[in-house]
Amino acid sequence: MTAMDEYKRNLNSILLTYKPTRILELGVEEGISTELFLSHPNIKLSSVDILECKGAKARVKSLKADNRWDFKVGDVDKLLATYEKDYFDMIFMDVTYYDATGGMDEKGSAIHEYTSWLRDIKRCFALLPNRGILVTNDYIRQTGTRSGHRKATSDFAIENGRPFTVYPSRGGMAVFVK
Ligand SMILES: C[S@@+](CC[C@H](N)C(=O)[O-])C[C@H]1O[C@@H](n2cnc3c(N)ncnc32)[C@H](O)[C@@H]1O
Repeated sequence: MTAMDEYKRNLNSILLTYKPTRILELGVEEGISTELFLSHPNIKLSSVDILECKGAKARVKSLKADNRWDFKVGDVDKLLATYEKDYFDMIFMDVTYYDATGGMDEKGSAIHEYTSWLRDIKRCFALLPNRGILVTNDYIRQTGTRSGHRKATSDFAIENGRPFTVYPSRGGMAVFVK
């Protein structure tokens, strides 16, 4: 099984377990997660990415799911404030933040990732209703990159006394129930 197969299997398993119908997705890129969410006909999806994500748009079009997809292009930092509290029953965090210079320097990136992710985890948690699901991607990340995602997820859990479930794979996902 490839890392991509594991990623999709985990996401699908989370959907089948928690049965969300209104999802907010942060980070679209080529639209792998976008397509998976929208392959469930009862799901309405809102997505944010700083890029146009043409590949993802093409996937949604071929699924004929445009009427269930609201895609906003912009910075998560600005757009998160525009969403209504208690509307989504699941939020999927999968943004790969660049470092302060716009690059991906490993050390600088890990610090920037950490502060951005911790900020976003807190905001996303506040947006969700009670029993809402927060999924943070790359909790395991065996390649050693994106270590900020793991630390932000763990620190949030410890500071707030919140348990979470890990869906293991090479990337790995952490799932909180509010
Ligand atoms: C790992 S990819 C998302 C992959 C996607 N979930 C999938 O399954 O195909 C991360 C995305 O985060 C986006 N991104 C980076 N910084 C961002 C920001 N500040 N606001 C919104 N999106 C951002 C990147 O453009 C990239 O497409």
